[in-house]
Amino acid sequence: MLRGVNVMKRKHTLILGVCTVVLVGYQGNPLHVTAQASTDAPYEEQQAIVPQPIGPGFDFPAERAALQELVDANDVAAMREHAWNIWAGLTADSASVYQNQPLPVWETWLSTEQVFTNPPIEISVHDVDISNENPGREFKDPSQFFHITGAEDAEEVNEVESGIVGFNKYDPSMVQYLWDGHSAPEAHGDEYFYTSSSSLTALNETWGDTAIIDRKVTDASNTALELKPVMMWVRAEGLTAIPFWQGPNSSTDSNCADVSVDELRHPEPGQPATTCHPDPSTWTHCVLVDPHNTTSGLQPATEEQFASADFTEAKGCIDVENAQYGGINLLYNFKLSASEAVAFNEAQGPEKPAEAGDYMVFLAMHVNTKEIVDWTWQTFWWQGGQETPDAYPGSGAGRTDNIVEPWTNYNMCTAYAQTTYPDNQGDMNVCFNPYLETSSGIPDGIRSNCVTCHAAATVATPETGGYPATYNKPIDLGDPIYFDGATKTDFSWAIPSNAQP
Ligand code: HEC
Repeated sequence: MLRGVNVMKRKHTLILGVCTVVLVGYQGNPLHVTAQASTDAPYEEQQAIVPQPIGPGFDFPAERAALQELVDANDVAAMREHAWNIWAGLTADSASVYQNQPLPVWETWLSTEQVFTNPPIEISVHDVDISNENPGREFKDPSQFFHITGAEDAEEVNEVESGIVGFNKYDPSMVQYLWDGHSAPEAHGDEYFYTSSSSLTALNETWGDTAIIDRKVTDASNTALELKPVMMWVRAEGLTAIPFWQGPNSSTDSNCADVSVDELRHPEPGQPATTCHPDPSTWTHCVLVDPHNTTSGLQPATEEQFASADFTEAKGCIDVENAQYGGINLLYNFKLSASEAVAFNEAQGPEKPAEAGDYMVFLAMHVNTKEIVDWTWQTFWWQGGQETPDAYPGSGAGRTDNIVEPWTNYNMCTAYAQTTYPDNQGDMNVCFNPYLETSSGIPDGIRSNCVTCHAAATVATPETGGYPATYNKPIDLGDPIYFDGATKTDFSWAIPSNAQP
């Protein structure tokens, strides 16, 4: 059964009124959200969390042709401005309140376990009350580390006690797309469901003589968004050290010592994958987070603070010179409820269990939008309001002033195309998240490009397919090495990774 989501198949004739409330809730009208809750229960208990799209005023969704023109012109400043606007829209307060905090818009969305249910939900989102009792925080290892074709060291990654958890979220229109039935060119009216692996396998069998390049699921709508938020556990008492990105050289991985950012940015065609994997457990810099203090920025840590901190999740930070100190207010954070603490301990099995009242701090988020055909790709990570050394893989440049604290403390890179020029000419566009793609489970992660890896997302993936081994050239969507006998899933790895029987 579903955790938290009230999925009720409703007959249209009976529930016109109820449907209206749900739909109006979509537009984020606070009155109707309140009206949806039962009448006189205490405020904290009665609030339902209603998935709410990005509101007006954030240039979302942008007009497709105009945005594609900026991408084709490689207008980096304009693409970044668009990405910051999306960030502002995602992090703005929603109409939903949880534990007396207004939730940011993105936290109201459904997560993987609620969307990819067993059995799959095969019904329009408009016929279902998708309001939620909790924000669907799934405290799992970021699962992209474990879906790797041919990566022998995936298990090793699993053993690293990183304390980092990641999961996926889907905006209401993406949920609708995932729950709807879709036809296929050769399917003679049959419908296929993308949250069901047997349905996807059946779809893959319909292609006949269809050219490889055209074997793909129906595209999602231009309003679709997908997210991968990343968080870390901070104890309610004392100082917890969290890893702080200072570039690939600031890592205890000896393969990273001689890596040059300039060379990483300009891989030569045919260049082998880098062996440097600076994952967060290897970072030599950290921030000691104080849950009992608020600060307006980071400060150098004192010897005393350094001596008292818990370094379980920042083992590479061994020198006080590399440590800063800051209040928990510098990160988006929330307190773990009793049931969330249990879920976290079950997923992570830390030596000393997390307890209700401990914190989760928000470190990073991948964000995709279907505004353009190949999606827009941007990723954000916490940099404490400072600049990223060498702006690698991104920076705080151009941050728009519609972003409110603490969301201003996150830096960003974009990859709205595989390369810096149209038609896949020119340099590869490097953009990755320091908390995610630095993992040793991801080949060439610190030179990676979101679009190139997600373009390879398929069902019935051939043995030669899966993750690209390197990022020295773009993927061709008709390449039999990646796509022979397969169906492309509109750049979504979530579909093949999470579809249920
Ligand atoms: C090496 C391959 C690879 C790279 C590079 C990569 N991803 Fe992913 N990503 C995955 C896989 C596999 C999943 C699905 C696993 C899961 O369900 O969590 C995923 C999941 C996601 C999701 C959740 C929804 C979905 O589409 O599956 C988002 C959003 C996302 N990635 C965005 C990005 C962005 C933005 C970048 C670049 C900054 C990026 N990814 C780089 C492999 C990759």
